Amino acid sequence: MAKVLFIGNGAREHSMVENLARDSELFTVGKARNPGIMKLSKDYIVVDKFDDFDALKAFVEKNKPDFAVIGPEEPLSLGVVDFLETLGVKSFGPVKELAKLETSKEWTRMLMVKYNVPGCPKHQTFKSMNGIKEYIEELNNENGFVVKPDGLTGGKGVKVSGEHMHSVEDGVVYCEEVLRDHPSVVIEDKLVGEEFSLMGITDGVTVWESPPIQDHKRAFNGDTGPNTGGMGSYTTGKLLQFMKQVDLDQAYEITEKMAQAIYKETGKKYVGVMYGGFIVTKDGVKLIEYNARFGDPEAMNILPIMKTNFSKVAEACVNGTLKDVPVEYEDAATVCRYVVPKGYPDTVEGSGEELDMSGVDDSNVVVHYASIDEQDGKLITSKSRSVSFTGIDKDVEKAQQFSLQACQAVKGSVRFRTDIGTKDLLQRRIDHMKSLGRTFD
Ligand code: GLY
Repeated sequence: MAKVLFIGNGAREHSMVENLARDSELFTVGKARNPGIMKLSKDYIVVDKFDDFDALKAFVEKNKPDFAVIGPEEPLSLGVVDFLETLGVKSFGPVKELAKLETSKEWTRMLMVKYNVPGCPKHQTFKSMNGIKEYIEELNNENGFVVKPDGLTGGKGVKVSGEHMHSVEDGVVYCEEVLRDHPSVVIEDKLVGEEFSLMGITDGVTVWESPPIQDHKRAFNGDTGPNTGGMGSYTTGKLLQFMKQVDLDQAYEITEKMAQAIYKETGKKYVGVMYGGFIVTKDGVKLIEYNARFGDPEAMNILPIMKTNFSKVAEACVNGTLKDVPVEYEDAATVCRYVVPKGYPDTVEGSGEELDMSGVDDSNVVVHYASIDEQDGKLITSKSRSVSFTGIDKDVEKAQQFSLQACQAVKGSVRFRTDIGTKDLLQRRIDHMKSLGRTFD
């Protein structure tokens, strides 16, 4: 059994650990307790910050892991992989310079342009306000515009015209705000279509892609309300109904060319996850952004159905032998829903309260703990998403029913979206693509 140092403590990380625990021993460093991960780990410490390198060094010396697996983006951006390398521990996760794939929107767009990677929307990067108003006016006269701060913003920095900004002036004011805290701002064409996520696992040369997944960021049914960390996601197996094979092929090509571009630019191989956020538009597939880790909740859709043990995949990535370890998934639909405290994400009520899951039939769902703790045998919520339930079945409708039934059986001051993965929602996605001129046989 491999000994794996694991970094992270959310529901995404719980799903990673669950798969890793099939055939490895886990030694975990989290920023909070996670009762699910704690049960599966041989050792677990809580640190105040992921770059507490003294604590990390002591933990590595004590447990002597064979390699490390990093869950969230924060430790990547803080150089935890670089530090572990100095201790002789290789990681599934990119070094800080390559984690710019997520932390620098400017770098990603620069690579796409310099190395002719397809799927790059019209955009410009600005380091000062010079020319910003004119560029926003130009895009506003076409499809609209998107403003992206350069740097990590916890998923809250990107603003879109027509949704968060309602005039050129709003865009200019937001860019001024961004440039006070960030080195640059990227302004892009607003893309219209249906979004999907692909988790590309890579050793820097070979890339194995996950099935496509659709995430739901808005708080309420019908994609209304404020953006959240993600309320749930579904995959139907090989293709989502609003897509065609050509869309998936284009997305694969984009990620493969990006992995090559990173190597050409830096001379370093990107190891870990290249999570592409794509959109099918009337003009084909475009890349919205990359993240340098698994998606949350998308990880909960794919890790439970990953047939190849994730520890073998991660080990092959750190050793540069991924071409010999094809990453295969069961041909199944999965629907993941998060149960969140009432009022999330704005005014959270119900934090610090008991969540009673005794009525949940867990025979058809996989349960992953997020911001929740166990005290005296009781599960206690905090301010963020509490727990996720992933239903799995050949049939997406059954998978969504399993996930829904589990959410409905939870007692506590919580709520969840009921529409994710339903027939109605899937049809709305197809209708949306038809309204953009796409035909389906
Ligand atoms: N699914 C959104 C994210 O992981 O950032």
